[in-house]
This record gives sequence, structure tokens and C-alpha cells, in this order.
Amino acid sequence: MPEFQTSPGMRDILAPESARWRRFVQVFADTVEAAGYEQIIPPLLEDIGVFSRVGEATDVVTKEMYDFVDKGERHVALRPEQTASVCRAFVQHRPTLPWKAWYSGPNFRYEKPQRGRFRQFDQVGIEVLGPTDPAVDVEVIALGWRFFQALGLRQVTLRLNSLGEPSDRSRYTEALRKHFGDHASELADETRATLARNPLRVLDSKRPEDALVLQSAPRIDDFFSEAAADHFARVRAGLDALGVPYTRDERLVRGLDYYRFTTFEYAGGTLDSAQNALGGGGRYDGLVEDLGGPSTPGIGFALGLDRTLLACDDEGVFAAPPTSVDVFVIDTTGGFEATVLTDEFRSAGLSADRAYDNRSMKSQMKAADRSNARVAVIIGSDELASGRAVIRPMNGGEQFTVSRATLLGDVLRVARGSEPTPTPKEIK
Ligand code: HAM
Repeated sequence: MPEFQTSPGMRDILAPESARWRRFVQVFADTVEAAGYEQIIPPLLEDIGVFSRVGEATDVVTKEMYDFVDKGERHVALRPEQTASVCRAFVQHRPTLPWKAWYSGPNFRYEKPQRGRFRQFDQVGIEVLGPTDPAVDVEVIALGWRFFQALGLRQVTLRLNSLGEPSDRSRYTEALRKHFGDHASELADETRATLARNPLRVLDSKRPEDALVLQSAPRIDDFFSEAAADHFARVRAGLDALGVPYTRDERLVRGLDYYRFTTFEYAGGTLDSAQNALGGGGRYDGLVEDLGGPSTPGIGFALGLDRTLLACDDEGVFAAPPTSVDVFVIDTTGGFEATVLTDEFRSAGLSADRAYDNRSMKSQMKAADRSNARVAVIIGSDELASGRAVIRPMNGGEQFTVSRATLLGDVLRVARGSEPTPTPKEIK
């Protein structure tokens, strides 16, 4: 075993998976940029205070943060998510409203690594700051849905809830605290610990022993103000108008503290239930204020790349693209033929690769096969002497010799497949 390996929960993403990650982000960017979202690239590291606001009562903040004091005595943390960074950036730069931003990149949470759960994991996400309009909630939720569709996923489900206004949410939280407190002896030990920290999160419990007490728990709908009930009704009507299917889940509270009004989560149809949350989000109308900005409503979501790609594997969609080049140059002359030709082909817009270390013809042919090239160009000492080159279509077509003067044009034709492979001809 090598002395150094990646730390637990951290991975190297190698080809072809790395190309799939890149395409994933590209499809996401295409989806959301078509809806007016602009990219933001926040730093990986922020003052810890930015993330404390994400929720003093959440594991993400209390237990899982990668934080340290830097050489300038600043207490900083690697970001566990990007919503707080986007809000901090808003307060710092004050872009015009509505501000529609998208992002992608790694986040860090010191969690117990398992399938679909890592300590460094990538997300893509969007945030909209400014409007309270339920049409924004609908747009955001629908864009996530459309993105999953664009990947080819068909078994994703959407769960939707509302936590009401902050005052609804706190009255509801108190009612839950009382209800669960009255039945504390019937709850699992771990659930009692959750209750002490955050009664809302008890609703997340999947422990069978908690099921009865959960069933009789107060319901959020009974705590909605008129405004909250109306907002939620309009979000639902908007999703219906778009034909985005969802289920109402009264117990969906989500893991971060900043949510109010709408919350939602997308789940994979095939993953284990513990890790089937592909992404989620909601409204966080107080976060900008908490970070020192003016009262500014916000809503967004983040989707986990790893889990979404696992769901793609399970559904057999969005496979890693095969790696290939247009041309592979085989040069047995020992000179700079391959160096010059690959440069010429690349400048003409083709992708071109070659072998190194003056390998035998046979070994270079093998490398050409492995590269999945469409065309091999072969230069040996005969070709060098006569100013010619051999073109070999790698799809099994017959090879032919051309003059160096027309080589680029011939290679372009064969590699692009825009014209049928020229009939073999020998140049006199
Ligand atoms: P979150 O639910 O904590 O929300 O994370 C969103 C998604 O990131 C999860 O559904 C999951 O796919 C992925 N994820 C989270 N932790 C891990 C992990 N340890 N390993 C692999 N994947 C993980 C947020 O982060 C909020 N910022 C979403 C949001 C945006 N709310 C409003 N705007």
C-alpha cells in the first residue's frame, strides 16, 4: 500500500468520471443560464461566522465543520455549503435585485463516509435574492426538476412542504417541543437528544419506535398565518400549472436552520433511503439579515453531484462519455514528425495525440487503438523520405498514402466523417 492515500471521505476523480463531472456542471449551467442565472464562484474558505448562521442547532455547524485558526489569527472554515457564502457575497457587493446566481464546486463536512456520503462533495445550486413572489419558488423548484430530466433521470421524486413564517415556525416548534416532551419516554434515546437540540428535526426520525409519537404530533398547517397559507397554495398551484409532480410531505424540515416558507427535496428512485436525497432547498428569508445585510428574501437549492450520478448509474442514464481523439500520429522516424504533425492538427481544431519514447510500430499502433482515435497517421522512414504519410481510418477502412501537402485536408475529411472515406489511392 502506498504511504500516502486520500483521507477518509475524500477521493480522486479520474477519467472518464472526471469528464462526466464536467458535463454534469455544463448541463446544469445550460439549464439555469437559459433562465437568467449568472455564475458566482465564492471562495472555499470564509470567516466561521458566515457559516454559524446556517444553524447553531445543526450537525453541519456544530459537529462537521472543518475550521481552524489561520496564520493571521482568523477563525475560518471550509464551506459546508454555499448558500451562506452567496448571501455574504450579496451583502458585500449588493448586486441589483432580483439577483439570480448559480454555483458549483466542493463543500466539506466531517461526516461518517459511506456510499453517497463524503467529507468533500460537490454540489451545483442556484439562489434567488429579492422577490417574495411564489412564482420564484415555482421557477426554482421546476428548474431543479428540469435539470434531472435533462440528465435523463425518470425516477426522481419531489417532496414539498412549508414551514410558514418565522413566527409560525417558532410557535410550531414550541408545540412540537411540548408534544414530544410529553411523550419523551416513548422516544428512542437518540431522538430525545435531537429533541433537546431541535424539536423540528425529530420529524425527520425514521426510527420505528418513534413512529406512533410522530403520528400524533401537531401539524404545521394548523400554525400557518394567512400569508403563509396563501404563499404555499400559490406555489402548489404554480407547480401544478407546470405539470411538475410533487408530494406534500408535512415532515420535510430539512437539515439546515435557515428555512422558512417553502422547503423541498428531490429524492432518487433507486438509492437507499438514507442517502436518497439528491438535493433540496427552500426559502431562507432571514439569512441575509443575519449576515448583516438589509432584509432580503431568498430561495434556492443545492444538488449533490455524487448522489445524482449514483442515481444516473442506477437508471442507466448520463453515462461517462468515452474518451477519444480525432487523430493519433504514429512516428517511427525518431525525429520530430509526431511533434510537428500533432501541433499542426491541434491548430486546425482537431484533437491529436501520439506515443513517446520512440516505441516500435506495433506498440504505437496499440496506443492508437487505446486512444479510440478515428484516424491514425503513420510516418515511417519511407514516408519521410518521399514526403508522404499513411492515413489509416481506425474504423477498419483501408489505409492509403497521401502527400504531405494534402495531409491536413485529407485527415480533416476522414476524422470529421463529413465525407465518406476517400477511396484508397496510391499517389504516384
Ligand atoms: P443540503 O441538503 O445540506 O442543502 O445539501 C444538498 C445536497 O448536497 C444533498 O441533498 C446531497 O445530495 C448533497 N450532500 C450533502 N452532504 C453530502 C455529503 N456529505 N456527501 C455527498 N453529498 C452530500 C444545502 O446544502 C443547502 N445549501 C441547499 C440550499 C440552497 N438551500 C437553499 N439554497
